[in-house]
Amino acid sequence: MICGSIIITNVTQIKGIKMSKIKRFGVSISYDLLEQFDTFINKKGYPTRSKAIEDVIRETLKKESLRIGEKGTGAIIIVYDHHKRELVSKLTYIQHEFHNLVICNQHIHLDHHNCMEIVVVKGTHNQMQKLTDKLQSTKGVKSASLSIAKGR
Ligand code: NI
Repeated sequence: MICGSIIITNVTQIKGIKMSKIKRFGVSISYDLLEQFDTFINKKGYPTRSKAIEDVIRETLKKESLRIGEKGTGAIIIVYDHHKRELVSKLTYIQHEFHNLVICNQHIHLDHHNCMEIVVVKGTHNQMQKLTDKLQSTKGVKSASLSIAKGR
């Protein structure tokens, strides 16, 4: 772990003019993660870590505010090892719990061990996220991510 300082801005209104206050705070982060983040920053051409972190925070907050109550269509991509005991039936059971959201799914045998499942869903963003979180937290699931398309 290393410690560093990052800067965030706090936008305030002073006599109708938008002013930004800057706040410094310390952050502890693993070397590995910081190294990956620096590679990302260089690839994107950010002038400073602070600017990149600001954008990541803004993007995360934007996604979070969009999610609540808004309806949409999405795809959940799950990767798991089908040899894990009872995992396939657990995943099916969870999808049945959310049958009002699930439109269809596609199963792809990636290799000897791994399967990918694409679950197409329709509903509010928080319902779709709830299903994704439930699938992700099932023991044996390697990854589960939700991609939401615009529209209803
Ligand atoms: Ni398979």
